[in-house]
Amino acid sequence: MNAIEAINERRSIRAFSPKPVEKDKLNAVLAASSRTPSWANTQPWEIFVATGDTLKRIKEGYRQKYADKAPAVPEMPRPVEWSEGAKERIQQLRPDIARACGDAVEQFAELNQTMFGTPVAVYICMDRVLSEWSLYDIGAYSQSFMLAALEQGLSTIPAITMTLYPDILRRELKIPDNLKITIGIAVGYADETNGINKFISSRRPLNETVSFFE
Ligand SMILES: Cc1cc2nc3c(=O)[nH]c(=O)nc-3n(C[C@H](O)[C@H](O)[C@H](O)COP(=O)(O)O)c2cc1C
Repeated sequence: MNAIEAINERRSIRAFSPKPVEKDKLNAVLAASSRTPSWANTQPWEIFVATGDTLKRIKEGYRQKYADKAPAVPEMPRPVEWSEGAKERIQQLRPDIARACGDAVEQFAELNQTMFGTPVAVYICMDRVLSEWSLYDIGAYSQSFMLAALEQGLSTIPAITMTLYPDILRRELKIPDNLKITIGIAVGYADETNGINKFISSRRPLNETVSFFE
């Protein structure tokens, strides 16, 4: 698989098989991801991997939070505003998923609330003193991770919903106070039987996003 094939093939998977992920595959993905570029080679990423009983406890903690209707408190503050274009595309997402997946779209919220049934949850954190410059590096790391996972036959989704209850993550993963939890990535084998995984998202045409000057 070459780089362009991997970029084109990667897509968010929202229902995972319970099949465990082999440790050597996970290590290969983490090793490749560590080659991500960063400002002045600062490598701001701090990675916490949850599997097995630890992940079970995290999922149970989340289940309880949803049952209690606990307010979500992600450490990446919710945006106060979106551009007009972004708003349109946000509104387009659900109808697009419904068109591709039919009734499976109804599972969207529940799959988000149950971490998509993933056997592995990876949390990317960075020191609270760092700025948007480092967040750029975290985004790049995330893409490296997802492409390397694909090459290992694994599927992924980056999900802010996995970060909604940091107290549980901090308790179970022993995340120190100086770190901010930026994003969670679910990684595992896709549940090929779930219609939600049929969705392939659209992209803006290049002539809308790229300006050439010669
Ligand atoms: C930072 C970030 C956070 C995301 N959070 C969620 C989430 O909480 N739940 C979800 O279902 N998808 C989430 N997504 C997936 C996006 O909806 C998805 O990347 C986008 O629709 C494009 O689809 P694709 O990943 O299949 O190409 C997130 C993506 C990113 C980059």
